Amino acid sequence: MNWWLTFHLLGVILWTGGLLMVSRMAAYHTAEPLEVQPRLAWIEGRLYWLVTVPGMVITVLTAIGVIATSPVAYGAEGWFHKKMALVLFLAFLHMVMHKKLKVLKADPADVSKTVFSAVHGTIGLTIIAILIMVKVQP
Ligand code: HEM
Repeated sequence: MNWWLTFHLLGVILWTGGLLMVSRMAAYHTAEPLEVQPRLAWIEGRLYWLVTVPGMVITVLTAIGVIATSPVAYGAEGWFHKKMALVLFLAFLHMVMHKKLKVLKADPADVSKTVFSAVHGTIGLTIIAILIMVKVQP
């Protein structure tokens, strides 16, 4: 289980770090001059596809390994159900951010800084809630 858990945590760092980084960068991006916007969108795309998405894939695959090799019956744990609900919400925020990044790339005037700031803040709060579920197990 330790190997799976180690790489689960690596995936978590990459996924959540990528989400926070890209959403914050996109918020700053909205206030930049038009001529630099395509370049910023390219950088955001690289960070999204090369850090955030692989992080998500590693998180999910290694979680399956943790569950398969552990004696704990996670399905019977209340904290685990709450964690899974929060992870689904995080995946939803991931999708919202991806959709808004596409709009920002195609037509920057159609998306505001507030949207990315709200997504960024909500992602941060969701990560805190997931950590509380995992470590405090209320
Ligand atoms: C498909 C989604 C996920 C599944 C199925 C999953 C499942 C698991 C399982 C079974 C454990 C071992 C828990 C234990 O026995 O103590 C674990 C550990 C952990 N998970 Fe996840 N997880 C997922 C996503 C995430 C996400 C998105 C985060 C953070 C934002 C996260 C953070 C953690 C942390 C910090 C631990 C380590 C707990 C320790 O120190 O022992 N997980 N996960």
